[in-house]
Amino acid sequence: MTNKEQARKAAEHFAALVEKQLERVERMKAEKEFLDYDKLDKLIIGVVGGDGIGPAITREAHRILEYLLDDKVKEGKVEFRVIDGLTIENRAACGKAIPDDVLAEIKQCHVILKGPTTTPRAGDKWPNIESANVAMRKELDLFANVRPVKVPSQGIDWAFYRENTEGSYALGSDGVHINDDLAFDFCVTTTEGSERIARAAFEYAKKTGKTRVTAVTKANVVKTTDGKFLSICKEVAKDYPGIELDDWYIDIMTAKLVDEKRRTQFQVMVLPNLYGDILTDEAAEFQGGVGTAGSANLGKRYAMFEAIHGSAPRMVEEGRAQYADPCSIIRAAVMLLEHIGEADKAKKLERALDICMYEEKKLVMTGRDTGATGAQFADYVMETIAAL
Ligand code: IPM
Ligand code: MG
Repeated sequence: MTNKEQARKAAEHFAALVEKQLERVERMKAEKEFLDYDKLDKLIIGVVGGDGIGPAITREAHRILEYLLDDKVKEGKVEFRVIDGLTIENRAACGKAIPDDVLAEIKQCHVILKGPTTTPRAGDKWPNIESANVAMRKELDLFANVRPVKVPSQGIDWAFYRENTEGSYALGSDGVHINDDLAFDFCVTTTEGSERIARAAFEYAKKTGKTRVTAVTKANVVKTTDGKFLSICKEVAKDYPGIELDDWYIDIMTAKLVDEKRRTQFQVMVLPNLYGDILTDEAAEFQGGVGTAGSANLGKRYAMFEAIHGSAPRMVEEGRAQYADPCSIIRAAVMLLEHIGEADKAKKLERALDICMYEEKKLVMTGRDTGATGAQFADYVMETIAAL
């Protein structure tokens, strides 16, 4: 093919992507309102184990949620549905990030508790299909990835509002190899998408009495998409007098998180997808690692709560899944309770988890038979709740 022909072929590929993104913009514009849980007869909570250690740890968080929501289940106000099948084996077999039947079941629920899922990449033993996480965020339009990180003894109290459906992720599986020498990926920013995440961050700041929101981009270099994200954050900030917006670049922000004097000044961070992915792993490390952090993925119609670590297939291969630490997904369960309006139960679970993880520490998780199992840890958490 001549250069011109290769360019024309690439342009066709690009045109198809643009059309799909324009359709997505229309769908976003059409969905204005958040679902009001108070108006539901019954709230359906889907429990999706995922794969690797996912089913083992999710089961424990599920047991704790059932224990805490027992009254609501008995009154018929809450129903749990266990949804199997989001395993890498099934996904590889049908060549889809989320098998159709699993997606249909998920869409019958209102909120989802989800275990980790294996994300294939080129060269793995699995076909290089799209990440199930990323697909679910897109399918359910879960635009706000909320990741809190707290280390009270060091004055760290951060809430990250990571944009979850756009940026480098929107077309992460739709890049093009023009030829053996040239490859392109795409980064997408929309007005609607930036505005809704910025608003979510400011609304959270307003609700919790925070005084500062920090936008993190690389708008000095990635001028078009990051530039748009930042300018929309500035627009949205005008609606929130009393809350200051400051603006940092991702490189220096990454450094400032390890600066003990500066980092305590950050409160709420709003940032495009990829920077949010990276910065939240760094931030979680101060709290004890990604295994200790939970994550909420919020949209207008659906919400999904997950652990932020991976599926650790090696633990399963070595027969150690029962020793996997369920703390991260239990943190996600705290966020789920808060989200569905069960603030007291969320506080209780959070308090019990802090006691079990950081204060009393009667059980230690080591990931092997030298420590407790996830089931023993979940029992310990429930006993601690009962004694509160
Ligand atoms: C996360 C994870 C995912 C992401 C992976 C598993 C696709 O790292 O939730 O942060 O990159 O978003
Ligand atoms: Mg990540």
